[in-house]
Amino acid sequence: MKITIITSSPNKDGLTAACAEQAREGIVQNGGEAVLISLNDLNIPSCSACNNGWGTCREGHACQVKDDFQATHASLKDSDGLIIISPVYWGELSESAKNFLDRLRRCEAFSGDKNILAGKPVICVAAAGGSGNGTISCLESMERFVVHLRAVKYDFIAITQRSRQYKLKTIKEAAASMCLGLK
Ligand SMILES: Cc1cc2nc3c(=O)[nH]c(=O)nc-3n(C[C@H](O)[C@H](O)[C@H](O)COP(=O)(O)O)c2cc1C
Repeated sequence: MKITIITSSPNKDGLTAACAEQAREGIVQNGGEAVLISLNDLNIPSCSACNNGWGTCREGHACQVKDDFQATHASLKDSDGLIIISPVYWGELSESAKNFLDRLRRCEAFSGDKNILAGKPVICVAAAGGSGNGTISCLESMERFVVHLRAVKYDFIAITQRSRQYKLKTIKEAAASMCLGLK
């Protein structure tokens, strides 16, 4: 089975990257395929709110603004589960995560039986700095996305520099558990 890991940090060796590596190990060590998507390497700007607020996203379930969104959106169709890892910026998702998840939600929230994430398990990870301020509000934003997409809230994990050592293990175990549950 295939599980997609989405990260949204500019740092290749930061906390977000460390979380993604643990998630990847948890998947591959249990026979799964892990596909990594680094949103900061892609061109996915914020939603343009086309026309009167809805472009082709609501009825056509596709974004009319052509960039890297289309291929990234399509790649999730055959994914059995999703792990979203975002750094905490100002108590929120990072900009690249917000851009992608906002546009994905618009395309999928009204797509009924064709919703590509409905019923699929999602693990959300908020990776914060030393203060940990705003980690909960970041996870709340992620939860709203998961609810709107009618996906399964598999787990919500907060990690800070302080909790790094034991929470990295938690992330690996959560990914492994998701993987084994999908077999
Ligand atoms: C613009 C910006 C805003 C941030 N806001 C917060 C915050 O609200 N709370 C917090 O605990 N850390 C905050 N941080 C720190 C990052 O969450 C932390 O350094 C995290 O580890 C970054 O992930 P990375 O290591 O993958 O880059 C902020 C960092 C940046 C660059």
